[in-house]
Amino acid sequence: MTMGQTITVTVNGTVHTAEVEHRTLLVHFLREQLNMTGTHIGCDTSTCGCCTVHLDGDAVLSCSTLAVQCDGREVRTVEGLQAADGSLHPIQQAFHENHGLQCGFCTPGMMMAALGIIEQQPNATDDEIRAALEGNLCRCTGYQNIVASIRAAADQMARS
Ligand code: FES
Ligand code: FES
Repeated sequence: MTMGQTITVTVNGTVHTAEVEHRTLLVHFLREQLNMTGTHIGCDTSTCGCCTVHLDGDAVLSCSTLAVQCDGREVRTVEGLQAADGSLHPIQQAFHENHGLQCGFCTPGMMMAALGIIEQQPNATDDEIRAALEGNLCRCTGYQNIVASIRAAADQMARS
């Protein structure tokens, strides 16, 4: 018999109640039980940051967070960035305009990390953005345009 637990998690504003195994990781809960595949898995060593989501407003690695730890809490994923009317979040717009992605595999995690950086350090310098991104790996871009995207998004969010 599988040991499980019923959890209730609010994901991007929608309440989900589901049975999970105690060992189920948040990233697997999102991808396999809620069919929300925007959050990526890029490693099995908690080093790439592709799986970054927000838990009660803090950026966390969903590959290192148990689904049961999220019971009664709020998760925000990359799918939750876009506005209800379909318009892009300033971070999504900035990544688009500044070519902040190439293959796009790291991008969901990068954008959720970016949201955390901008919320905590809205006036971060390029060096501070680079330091804050140390847990997010990109094999394509060389990071230059990712940093530019985050700076542009921070500027836009400060104006709005
Ligand atoms: S999948 Fe690589 S850090 Fe989570
Ligand atoms: S855009 Fe390809 S891994 Fe970052």
